[in-house]
Amino acid sequence: MNRLLLLNGPNLNMLGKREPGIYGVTSLEDIEDNLTKLTESFKYQLDTFQSNHEGELIDRIQQADGNYQGIIFNPGAFTHTSIAIRDAISSITVPVIEVHISNVHQRESFRHTSLLAPVSKGQIVGLGVKGYQLAALAFLEE
Ligand code: DQA
Repeated sequence: MNRLLLLNGPNLNMLGKREPGIYGVTSLEDIEDNLTKLTESFKYQLDTFQSNHEGELIDRIQQADGNYQGIIFNPGAFTHTSIAIRDAISSITVPVIEVHISNVHQRESFRHTSLLAPVSKGQIVGLGVKGYQLAALAFLEE
């Protein structure tokens, strides 16, 4: 069975309530449900995982090796800080597409750098929660 993994990092469990002017009003549960429907229509299985903890995300990335066709990953603020998550992505062969709901380049300068983009297949930024679907389609229509 073909499988994709949807990973979300810190504070993304607060979507819908968190800074709605920046991140919108859609909850993570709704994003996960919508993406599950999309992937099922392509006969793929979607697994989902959210954590506020760097090490738990790293564990899930390591476990993904050999088990998925792709990972759709919004690493939240770890994007800008985590060498350890970058090393985890580099250590597996599963391609990762990085997703950001907001346009990080229009925001504070500390959000302009991604430590993960150089080891990711691609990056989708600033298209709202639709970015998750576009990332999924990039894998599903490959
Ligand atoms: C984010 C952007 C990050 O800078 C921020 O820390 C987040 C969300 C986004 O989806 O736009 O938590 O990844």
